[in-house]
Amino acid sequence: MPVVQRPSSGPSLLGGSIVLPVNECRHDLPPRRVSPWTGEAGTSGTVAVVGAGKMGLPLAAQFAGHGWDVIAVDVQEAVVAAINAGRSHIGEEPGVAELVASAHAAGRLRATTDGAAAARESDVVVLIVPVMLDAAHQPDYRYMDSAVDAIAPSVHTGSLVIFETTLPVGDTRGRFAPRLEAASGLRAETDFVVAFSPERLYSGAALRNLSTYPKLVGGLSAASTERAAAFYDAVLDAEIVAMTSAEAAEFSKLADTTYRDVNIALANEFAAYADRVGVDIREVIAAANSQPYSHIHQPGLGVGGHCIPVYPHFLLSRAPELSLVARSREVNDGQIEIAVAAVREAVGGSLQGVPVLVLGITYREGVKELAYSRAIPLLAALRDAGASVSAHDPLLGDDEIRALDAEPYRWGERSDARAIVTQTGDARWRALDAAWFPDLSILVDGRNSLSGLPLPAGVAYRGIGVGVPGRS
Ligand SMILES: NC(=O)c1ccc[n+]([C@@H]2O[C@H](COP(=O)([O-])OP(=O)(O)OC[C@H]3O[C@@H](n4cnc5c(N)ncnc54)[C@H](O)[C@@H]3O)[C@@H](O)[C@H]2O)c1
Repeated sequence: MPVVQRPSSGPSLLGGSIVLPVNECRHDLPPRRVSPWTGEAGTSGTVAVVGAGKMGLPLAAQFAGHGWDVIAVDVQEAVVAAINAGRSHIGEEPGVAELVASAHAAGRLRATTDGAAAARESDVVVLIVPVMLDAAHQPDYRYMDSAVDAIAPSVHTGSLVIFETTLPVGDTRGRFAPRLEAASGLRAETDFVVAFSPERLYSGAALRNLSTYPKLVGGLSAASTERAAAFYDAVLDAEIVAMTSAEAAEFSKLADTTYRDVNIALANEFAAYADRVGVDIREVIAAANSQPYSHIHQPGLGVGGHCIPVYPHFLLSRAPELSLVARSREVNDGQIEIAVAAVREAVGGSLQGVPVLVLGITYREGVKELAYSRAIPLLAALRDAGASVSAHDPLLGDDEIRALDAEPYRWGERSDARAIVTQTGDARWRALDAAWFPDLSILVDGRNSLSGLPLPAGVAYRGIGVGVPGRS
């Protein structure tokens, strides 16, 4: 057998590195337009997509691309105006701008702020507005409640209402179906049907994921599951998975995302131990994952974005006994302390007045999203310790950096920073030149992406489970 370079470059599930094949479209397009839509194969109707954001707009474009008449509903006038001009307002999402333009030109995509009117005209209503967390880590329903209240009076006999937004287990049946019934005066499962089908897309690959990831569908009854599955079968090319209940579908999304949070917490604990015993965690994980049942994720400065750090709390809000889930959240949120402690040690104790540069402010590279980015508490922790904080992110302008109480750093400029912390794994950090930072004492590589970067003698390198104390 050949001797492989360590770490092995063998197959891995890490970070979505298994690329699923795209399913070719198997539909006869255009479908036959019917009104009302009854679920018959080969036919199309009208669908309202409520919440035309980063996920809703790709969905709307996909549905229109499969011959449906799509009404995008959003509370933001600017979003509605852009769609009605045939423009996508979301960046960094391959294929969406083209699909929006062609669907609009074909007269199959329009937008409105009037959810009630859209639902009245539609056979299907898909809700994809955010549910977030409040300060006490409980679900904050304000956007979804208001979206449901807007469409509910227009739900009519034969309507199919689908929730795609991630929800705590039981909400489709226990919270939202009664709200729809109360405002419409109709009975769910008798007059109209309701289902949950989680959105599982990865920002930056939405359209590709729509044609690869199996679509999970669970209704309030077998009839609603069947109707919702028929809808997705008409508009998607991926496999449709009919589940036994809305609750099973809700739980699946929380299980998938929470698994990743717990897995990353384990990787973070392993990284701390790797530091203690002087081994490189990347080598360990790559070797462990060469056993096909091992899928250990990567350690880092914690988990950001409005999915993975949020959904464990949706689970915990109904199941506080899930102590492993709670502990994992603590571990991942605590990771930024590693960076603060490393900088403190490198500069000899106090951070008072010490210039520190943070690179990568969005929650991950390439996605302009600050939600739950670990950069925000990292900047705050450095500031609270007295550091003079500057920051750079290729996706953020100077004003956006200043809004986070940091001084903008322009890439390539000379700086008096004594410490640099990378919070994202952006490939451009590899072009960093230590000559720009003559006073530099330490580079904290928060995503373990820079270990090969040449650093002058006297500048410490610290990764997460990579930089062995005393090795710099
Ligand atoms: N972004 C992701 O990576 C991702 C991935 C998988 C699933 N999701 C799911 O998708 C949901 C939406 O995420 P997103 O990234 O599209 O959010 P987003 O913030 O990009 O878009 C949400 C849109 O909803 C609109 N909106 C808010 N309240 C509304 C209302 N009452 N009526 C109509 N429109 C309203 C907003 O104006 C905005 O345009 C998330 O809560 C999550 O459950 C997101």
